[in-house]
Amino acid sequence: MTATPDFAAHRARLLDALDDDEAVLVFGGPVHLRNGDSEYRYRPDSDVYWLTGWEDPEVAVFVRPGKEPLVMFVQPKDPAKEIWTGRRPGPEGAKADFGADVAYPMAEIQEHLPRLLQGVRALHYAFAKDPDADALVMSSVAKAAKAARKNGLTAPETFHHPSKVLHELRLHKQADELELMRHAARLTAEGHARAMALAASGVSEYEVEAALLEPWRRSGSTGSAYTPIVAGGANGTVLHYVTNRDVLRAGDLLLIDAGCEVSYYACDVTRTFPVDGRFTDAQRQVYEIVLRAEEEAIAVCRAGQPHKAIHDTAVRVLTEGMVALGLLEGPVDDRIEDESFKRYYMHGTSHWLGLDVHDVGAYGRDGASTPLAPGMVLTVEPGLYVAEDDEEAPEHLRGIAVRIEDDVLVTEGDPVVLTAAIPKHPEQVEAACRAATT
Ligand code: GLY
Ligand code: MN
Ligand code: MN
Repeated sequence: MTATPDFAAHRARLLDALDDDEAVLVFGGPVHLRNGDSEYRYRPDSDVYWLTGWEDPEVAVFVRPGKEPLVMFVQPKDPAKEIWTGRRPGPEGAKADFGADVAYPMAEIQEHLPRLLQGVRALHYAFAKDPDADALVMSSVAKAAKAARKNGLTAPETFHHPSKVLHELRLHKQADELELMRHAARLTAEGHARAMALAASGVSEYEVEAALLEPWRRSGSTGSAYTPIVAGGANGTVLHYVTNRDVLRAGDLLLIDAGCEVSYYACDVTRTFPVDGRFTDAQRQVYEIVLRAEEEAIAVCRAGQPHKAIHDTAVRVLTEGMVALGLLEGPVDDRIEDESFKRYYMHGTSHWLGLDVHDVGAYGRDGASTPLAPGMVLTVEPGLYVAEDDEEAPEHLRGIAVRIEDDVLVTEGDPVVLTAAIPKHPEQVEAACRAATT
């Protein structure tokens, strides 16, 4: 049985962080069509979910310090529609089960929002995500301002992006959230172990994908946190390869970037291992450079370090490796300075992780990189990619792609690798592959 996040505690943290004349307004996204009239399964907006646990579309959440701090606008009960898409909690359910102090049908938001905005001086709202929501907010602010001129109350004068307060809170994970992220890491480890056991020459990438996903769905988790990348050989040099359709070949590496989501909290892991269980010399050389970059970058994940230090550390180790491998000509400092390392390492090394895979939270403010603090969870994911047709690269390295990615919790002391159970040292990886085939 999966625990649920402590939504009431999340709201209490938000209310604590807001001044009495501030309010937060967030909207859930719509259902999207996949093709024709067939819908994608609905995935709640992470802000809406973090605040309330509400999982249905057509919802708005308004939070304001005071007597009735949580106001929700939700889909009304509708027996005819519920036959097709399932039971709706409706406004009564929002109050009974989701902590709403007041709840209305979504269709009434135009009527109520101007009144709710009276007395609010600063509104936290994400403009430019949804033009219809923007139009509603602007007209409601105008109506609130008009009323304010008469009744002497304030109306919103200042607007903040949710990154200022709400997303800062989401960036600092609490015990309830870390428990879910640890659970997601355990399931992710199970999926990667299955994948490693199945992978062999002649097996297809989609079979490996199916093996990854099976324990995640069977456990009742919310499933895959993002579309898995299962990339044999040079497919791994395509950073967002998701077709997962080729057959694995002996002598190739297999790069798997896949993570499970528990109560929508994501895990994000990459492992790269030899299809037939033994690295070639060239593959192992590249692998060990990436592993060293990852381990040194993880060691930097300590409270007080700037987030940027993670990338800088990885880039230095990787660039030294590129020079040692003959991919670049030294000196290393010059290759970092002129960014020629980007030919073989073209992405960032770390992002925040939480309800969103690329989670909310600022990476810097006023030109300074965000200092790491206990409770932050982030990925560390260096890689090295040599395109198959890169005629400047030594021939024996062409088509090799390695990425190693773990999820790291920053603490008061040493960094904690939430995904440490998934083998990554070359001997462990080879042993895990051997164990699978014997
Ligand atoms: N799986 C997405 C990422 O690594 O950022
Ligand atoms: Mn990642
Ligand atoms: Mn990833």
